Amino acid sequence: MCGIVGYIGSQNAADLIYEGLKRLEYRGYDSAGIAVLNDNKINLVRSVGKLKNLNEKLIRKPMPGVVGIGHTRWATHGEPSEKNAHPHLDCHDQIVIIHNGIVENYLELKTELINSGHTFRSETDSEVIVHLIEEAWQKRNQDSLISATGQALLRLEGAHAIIIQSVLVPDRILAVRIGNAGGIAIGKGENEMFLASDIPAILPHTRTIVFLESMEIAAIRQDGFSCYSLHGEPRSKEYFQIPWDPVSAARGHYSHFMQKEIYEQPLSLTDTLRNRLNLDHNEIVFKHFSFSMQELQKIQRIMIVACGTSYYAGLVGKYILESLSQIPVEVDYGSEFRYRNPLIGPETLVLALSQSGETVDTLAALEEAQKKKTPLAAIVNVPGSQISRICQGIIFMHAGPEIGVASTKAFTSTLVDLFLLGFYLGHQRGFLKPEMRKNLLQKLVRLPKIASDVLAKDAIYKELASQFYEASDFLFLGRGINYPIALEGAHKLKEISYIHAEGCPAGEMKHGINALIDRHLPVVAIATQEKLYQKMLSNIQQVKARDGIIIAIVSDDKGEVGQFADYCIEVPNLHPLLNPVLNIIPLQLLAYYVALKRGCDIDQPRNLAKSVTVE
Ligand code: M6R
Repeated sequence: MCGIVGYIGSQNAADLIYEGLKRLEYRGYDSAGIAVLNDNKINLVRSVGKLKNLNEKLIRKPMPGVVGIGHTRWATHGEPSEKNAHPHLDCHDQIVIIHNGIVENYLELKTELINSGHTFRSETDSEVIVHLIEEAWQKRNQDSLISATGQALLRLEGAHAIIIQSVLVPDRILAVRIGNAGGIAIGKGENEMFLASDIPAILPHTRTIVFLESMEIAAIRQDGFSCYSLHGEPRSKEYFQIPWDPVSAARGHYSHFMQKEIYEQPLSLTDTLRNRLNLDHNEIVFKHFSFSMQELQKIQRIMIVACGTSYYAGLVGKYILESLSQIPVEVDYGSEFRYRNPLIGPETLVLALSQSGETVDTLAALEEAQKKKTPLAAIVNVPGSQISRICQGIIFMHAGPEIGVASTKAFTSTLVDLFLLGFYLGHQRGFLKPEMRKNLLQKLVRLPKIASDVLAKDAIYKELASQFYEASDFLFLGRGINYPIALEGAHKLKEISYIHAEGCPAGEMKHGINALIDRHLPVVAIATQEKLYQKMLSNIQQVKARDGIIIAIVSDDKGEVGQFADYCIEVPNLHPLLNPVLNIIPLQLLAYYVALKRGCDIDQPRNLAKSVTVE
């Protein structure tokens, strides 16, 4: 949600921070601001709306200085306005903060602070933070600003990422993390340091990163940083290298990040497979999936937790994992699982799926599982993200940075990682015999090339979009492993084109959905797999009998469906457990071109954010 960038070094801080905020635009925001310290004074610039408004102000009134912090705000408490935009100052303009998260006890704290004489200038919950620090500083004994801040912030309820700057310590920026309100990455440069909520913000400057854990405070200097617990105990932390390069986080010649990310799937899928396949022994190799053979043998059930697109990947994963490993799988939304007192224990492997690795509901689900002593594993894209740090078994997607709010390449990489995991478990537990393994891997290695063949039919998807972009509703039908693909196809279209769309298991139509079908309704029917082909065919006939318009996703040999469908998109038939990776690609591009025709803001759809770090 909100974006954070900070800089301390010898270059112009405002320029670097502005660039960093630009690279975080995909997170979604409604206002923005920057604070820079210069001549022992904090200068502020804030504006509502897009970052170009902030830039215009910066051009009119440049802000010199080499230490600064910046924020893109997603309004929760108080409307999007200049006074509610971050950074927020204390009463004496000595301390300034930016904040991600929600101060759950802010009303109580605000009343107390007003009674002690503090004056509030915004309607935000975040402003209590700066007054709390100011109050603690005024009442300090021998404390430094760092320990006064640590003590003061212990009073906050909720989850927070907070960056603090002050004329009291002009050569430091302080960063605090409490709970899971998104990460704080500290990046090391050549005698300069960077801070960001997300790695792409600082990727052009550094790939040497360290993340703050919950209840830690860091004091960042130009040449490094020191870290403590909020109670003041020193913490030692180590940098690691992020394997992403800055080019991968740039849009290149594409019109949108989403378009780029759809088109780079042959590459991202190759990267997901890279160094994981031992074709000599027909084995899968994982680097960070550190469960012993004994631990793997004990698993009796897998519980997948995820949100949004990752949840739909989980539904596909149920088919893949059950089929390859013979372990029963359940799938739940992070937001539901965390509140339902699930019946799980050490025999259940809880597997989180998350592109960002920071989704608060998925993290909370893992914490709930942790209390029940279950083994935790995750498939995650962002290296160093919170989810990747709390799980024993990690499978990184290696899909590269995904910037478009609508997830595409991370979805297909998750499916491939689920396939790898199913294969790995099936092999370790003795279910997958050598011949089966060989056959599966031979299919798997062909996947990236076949994905590029599907992408090459771009003109077809574009043409379909130009015919249907004015539709008010869409229906997506699938069966078995392709039912979640129907759900994800509908999800993509809704997110970026704002057209109402539903995904439905085709066999369920007669129980209600049939009432929606008329001659205006485009129905996307996924009819690729052999086993359920006849069933899909009869569902397609039912739609035609009610005058619906059929856009069928079919295998190379479209068979009888070709006679009933108004339009057919042919997708190669690779393997029933891998075909979903291919089947989603036309649906991603259909959504993309429909949204393009409708003039939507594709990379930053309204009301949505890339990392959902608040509940
Ligand atoms: O980062 P995560 O995979 O945990 O994110 C989960 C959802 O917020 C995310 O998939 C969301 O639905 C996207 N906008 C999908 O396009």
